Amino acid sequence: MSYRIGKPVLTLPLVTALLVISCKHKPPVTFVKDIAPLLYKNCSTCHRPGSAGPFPLLCYRDAAKRAKMLALVTFTHEMPPWPADTAYTRFAGEKVLTAGEVELIRQWAEAGAPLGDSAAQPPMPVFNYGSDLGKPDLVVRMPEAFQIKGDNSDHFMFMKIPFEIPRDTFVRAIEFVPGNRALVHHVNGHLIRYPFDKKKDVNDGEKIVDSQVFSVKELYDKLKIANDDGSYPLLKPSFVNYLPGVLPTMYPDGIGGFSLSRKNAIFLKDIHYGPSPVDTSDQSYFNIFYAKEAPKRPTLEMQLGTLGLSPVVPPLVIPPNEVKTFSTRIHAPMDMSILTINPHMHLLGKSFWAFAVTPAGDTIPLIRIKSWDFRWQYFYTYKKMVKIPKGSELVAIGVFDNTANNPRNPFNPPQTVQERNGSMRTTDEMFQFIITYLPYKEGDEKINLANSNGSANSH
Ligand code: HEC
Repeated sequence: MSYRIGKPVLTLPLVTALLVISCKHKPPVTFVKDIAPLLYKNCSTCHRPGSAGPFPLLCYRDAAKRAKMLALVTFTHEMPPWPADTAYTRFAGEKVLTAGEVELIRQWAEAGAPLGDSAAQPPMPVFNYGSDLGKPDLVVRMPEAFQIKGDNSDHFMFMKIPFEIPRDTFVRAIEFVPGNRALVHHVNGHLIRYPFDKKKDVNDGEKIVDSQVFSVKELYDKLKIANDDGSYPLLKPSFVNYLPGVLPTMYPDGIGGFSLSRKNAIFLKDIHYGPSPVDTSDQSYFNIFYAKEAPKRPTLEMQLGTLGLSPVVPPLVIPPNEVKTFSTRIHAPMDMSILTINPHMHLLGKSFWAFAVTPAGDTIPLIRIKSWDFRWQYFYTYKKMVKIPKGSELVAIGVFDNTANNPRNPFNPPQTVQERNGSMRTTDEMFQFIITYLPYKEGDEKINLANSNGSANSH
């Protein structure tokens, strides 16, 4: 009985012997069978040309030559970056490897990174570069490029991106598209809708200001954020945010959305550029998707801690050489359905924990980050909305490490670091917990949010 012309003929006893051997040993871990699907799902969104990862992880060669390093960074959970503890709460679009998957990568590296059956290679994922949501109705570009100095340091900027439209309009979603994918690290932006007669020229003022150099008041003045009469316009907070590898948030039909007025400005209170060894630039843009009608259930936002509704207790002052714990708490003003949360601290953050305690004394877990990582400040969207009964106490607890053991400590030797008028400087601290929610409606807990945010990494 011959299997293939030109190949040695396998006799029946030999085949049986081979079968016995392969039953005793598990089939070898190969790139094609085991590793490629893992990388495509959890790594390639960031590890592809022009994205934030320092090298691509798209084909066998990319992975095989770094097999040992992949095994190491997945074992230490440094990669994929996902600070939230999945044993505590689960979110849409999580990028996490199971212990079994980490072990597969280890075995594969140990075996010399075998390819496997090259004919069975899974297709490489295809990525969208212009938009992950489709064809936008409006594209708003940064009015000028930001020149990034090749000084190998991070840059944290404030930006104002004004735009005018012919009439008031409803919006379903907004998407930030980085111009320089390798360097734009994170973005958090508010929307300013100027009352038509209160701001003559939305294009007034500077557009880009270094948030580490000036006070918040000086920054607002330079960008000319105020109305013409000196009063401040209302902000829609955090209406756009971005991290590499995360898709823009789009809640299910009927949830979320907002309106634009004729005169608007996108106000980036935080755009973080990673270090670059060479001079370069960025001109990012925003894709805006209109809605046919007014949002049925616009989302609300509640901010605890720094600049928020509830104070940080004790006041956020972290003495040198101390690890210190702070908390902030507030009562739920109504039955709430929580969609998305965002914990925020700066470089001294060590851990973050948030939960709710209901009037009946039950604890509802919200998020636990055992090891805070300043670089990965996700807006975490739950897979299903979390119901918080009216009167529950929402609690956030933050631990800050102001010792020399904290490798991110901006001061050496450590100095007193505190909250200063909501200063965004990375060398000042903040402790915030931002909650996006809806007034609860029967059945909210059953609505699937899994596709709302970051869940698709290839399509
Ligand atoms: C959300 C984006 C993102 C995802 C997802 C991601 N990476 Fe990374 N990775 C980065 C960035 C950015 C760096 C650069 C190092 C840094 O700044 O932390 C990096 C660095 C690395 C490094 C070099 C680490 C070092 O110490 O030099 C390895 C190896 C790596 N990633 C492997 C992986 C693997 C394997 C996966 C999937 C299991 C993965 N990454 C998923 C963004 C990502």
